[in-house]
Amino acid sequence: MQALSNILLLIHSYWRWVVVVLLLVTFIKMLIGWVSRSGWGDLDTNLTKWLGMSLGIQFLLGLLVLILNVVTVGTAYIQSAAVIEHTVSNFIAVILGSLSFKRAPVTTRFRNKTIALLLAVVFIYRAVAVVGGW
Ligand code: HEM
Repeated sequence: MQALSNILLLIHSYWRWVVVVLLLVTFIKMLIGWVSRSGWGDLDTNLTKWLGMSLGIQFLLGLLVLILNVVTVGTAYIQSAAVIEHTVSNFIAVILGSLSFKRAPVTTRFRNKTIALLLAVVFIYRAVAVVGGW
């Protein structure tokens, strides 16, 4: 069980770079869309979809590590301040990164996505810094 948790943590650790690249690229694309008042294109749909998927995968991996560690180490594991901060901050970041603002007018959608993704970057940056760092 501990070995499985270690493997999942390793994948979770490397998968962060997929999340980070998609987060930054999507953030820049949303910012450009907002500033240039462009229309919503296929690339925007795909980037936001891929980002949502990468965050969903990261969330599932993290949740599995958390559950396996509670089972093997005990509830003391989730009483660690670092684990709590990492989990709560990233939970907020996953929600922020997945907001679609589909019903908003296009420029407002780009603006809201830009702000939500910027906040997600801040939450993720801080959350990773407390568990082993970047
Ligand atoms: C809500 C979603 C998430 C949950 C539940 C979660 C859960 C966890 C847990 C339980 C650990 C082990 C902490 C420890 O024992 O010290 C961990 C480590 C880590 N997490 Fe997350 N995580 C989440 C999201 C993220 C995100 C979004 C990123 C980055 C994009 C991330 C990057 C990392 C990194 C880099 C580590 C350290 C890995 C290592 O020690 O090699 N996590 N996460």
